[in-house]
Amino acid sequence: MSMERRGKLLDAAQIRKDFPILSKKVNGHPLVYFDSAATSQKPRQVIDGIRYFYENLNANPLRSIHKLAEEATIAYNAARDKVAKFINADPDEIVFVRNTTEAINLASYALPLKKGDRVVSSYLEHHSNILPWLRLKDIGVTVDFVDVDDEYELDMEHYRSLPNDTRLVTVSHESNVSGTVNDVREIAALAHEAGAMVLIDAAQSAPHMKIDVKDIGADLLAFSGHKMLGPFGIGVLYVNKTLHEHMKPFLTGGEMIESVRLNDVKYQKIPRFYEAGTQDVEGAYGLGLAIDYLNRIGMGNVEAYDKALTEHLFDSVRSVKGLDVYGGKSGKYGPILSFNVKGLHSHDVAYFLDKKGFALRSGFHCAQPFIEDKLKANGTARASLYIYNTLAEIDRFAAEIKNIARKYGRI
Ligand code: ALA
Repeated sequence: MSMERRGKLLDAAQIRKDFPILSKKVNGHPLVYFDSAATSQKPRQVIDGIRYFYENLNANPLRSIHKLAEEATIAYNAARDKVAKFINADPDEIVFVRNTTEAINLASYALPLKKGDRVVSSYLEHHSNILPWLRLKDIGVTVDFVDVDDEYELDMEHYRSLPNDTRLVTVSHESNVSGTVNDVREIAALAHEAGAMVLIDAAQSAPHMKIDVKDIGADLLAFSGHKMLGPFGIGVLYVNKTLHEHMKPFLTGGEMIESVRLNDVKYQKIPRFYEAGTQDVEGAYGLGLAIDYLNRIGMGNVEAYDKALTEHLFDSVRSVKGLDVYGGKSGKYGPILSFNVKGLHSHDVAYFLDKKGFALRSGFHCAQPFIEDKLKANGTARASLYIYNTLAEIDRFAAEIKNIARKYGRI
């Protein structure tokens, strides 16, 4: 099937009109934004909506009883409802946090993990899904890391033979380095068979595919608003209802309590239990608008367009000599391409590309164990795409990489 036909599933040219930043020039060239795994760009609907919030709804929700605060409360709750619907959860299973990192840290403090318990993470993880668990070694929790094969796929045998003391399996839905999409449904089923809970890091997947926490069987699931067209500073931790009564406090303070006597504190239930202090209300509102935007396009269309971009991306660089490409061999990948030009450091590649208007991330991408131990690399250059990118941008990118490899690389 031709790329053009696939591309028609979603009208990227039309979508681009909603993103003011995409008409910017960088270093004298039109911006080609290939860094959406770090953060997505924001559509006018989100940018203008946040302004609308401050001009019309700004008050501290859930506290004061005046009309404006009531309107702010309605807007805040509506944002939670939208997030819940987006991942097929109930609103009281949605905790607003700053980002995926905070969500996973919250879980690591709040889950009833103790000495003698085992947490199973993997080599494919971002530091945010490694460090919060390594910290638990201090209290006697064992932490294992599931290996990956040379196609960057997780060793499913590990999940089939989880030791009896495994309390939590935590895994990324999609790698932020190789773009590998993991079979989290199968992993969750295997974890549950072993009597363990499952946490899914959906930071890279939530922007790109339909997430259904019930279908996956996730007990906890984390993602960030800023990678899915929303503002910075807002993220989500989904906590399945069955866990609520077992979870410990995280941050304590205002509005997460029912009553406070100096010798007797009664807490609110989740989600307010985990939303101490004034929240990022603007962020929640903006995330709601981002979800509206994605829903208007349809996550099925986003996914189909991503697939076309991913295939074209990998196809285009396959013929370029002098590259190491990390991914795209088999299995399912998101629109992320990690690569190196032989003989060059990834920062040099990103630098040369920047001079031509391409915005890419380079280095370890907060996943040093995967990159050093498994890719045997000292960083990668990473192109990560989204709904506003085009096949033509990929063609220009492949041509530019070819130039760089020819001029400066070791072919
Ligand atoms: N986690 C983000 C990335 O992969 C910041 O770039």
